Amino acid sequence: MLIVLNHKMNLTVDDALEYQRQLAQKTYQDTVVVCPSYPYLPLFKGPNYQLGSQDVSAFAESKHTGEVSAYQLQSLKVSYCLVGHSERRTFAHEDNACIQAKLEQLLEHDMIPILCIGETKQDHLEHKTWAVLERDLKAVMEPLSLENRKKVVIAYEPLFSIGTGEVLENDQIAEVLTCTKRFMKETYGIDSMVLYGGSVNDKNFHHLKEIEVLDGFLIGGFSLQITELQKLL
Ligand code: PGA
Repeated sequence: MLIVLNHKMNLTVDDALEYQRQLAQKTYQDTVVVCPSYPYLPLFKGPNYQLGSQDVSAFAESKHTGEVSAYQLQSLKVSYCLVGHSERRTFAHEDNACIQAKLEQLLEHDMIPILCIGETKQDHLEHKTWAVLERDLKAVMEPLSLENRKKVVIAYEPLFSIGTGEVLENDQIAEVLTCTKRFMKETYGIDSMVLYGGSVNDKNFHHLKEIEVLDGFLIGGFSLQITELQKLL
């Protein structure tokens, strides 16, 4: 399984150093990817886990004050990067064109994008989940080459489950993951890796793990509790 830890905008530098110290102590059966804030990336070094970024610039050229390029992330030995997280889509107004450009940047620099997709509560209640996901997937996958499409990991995160404790039933999550895999297979002929994210914690982890089509988790808030997290891993 792939277990991605999204720290969001948390931790001081001392907290990050302590987190890294604890994370580096254990060996993990699953592939663990830690995504700290940009300034802490150089503090995290495996070899028992992989380094991920929470975001990347959509631009290649340097005239973008405040941004961090794929080229720079690559030089920091980052192997994975979240793209299109709902918090970026909402607060930074990222659209599919911007997300597509970020995917291209990452793939050009040999990093694995973790593409986040999900529906709003309203979409969910109006049974529009798959329509929304298919639209967003097509918009960013279509322009990629076949080789690049194969490298993208997809993370399904219902927006109303992020940080809320409201988790869908296993069969509902399984249905979306199955549709996603089927879409990728039938449209592009590839077997995509699909993760689930949204309020994953030590109480629901084992239950969610029973979802057969699941390839891993994207964990936000709970990932900060390193001691409890290590018990699970
Ligand atoms: P959460 O966040 O686990 O705190 O719900 C998940 C995410 O934002 O990726």
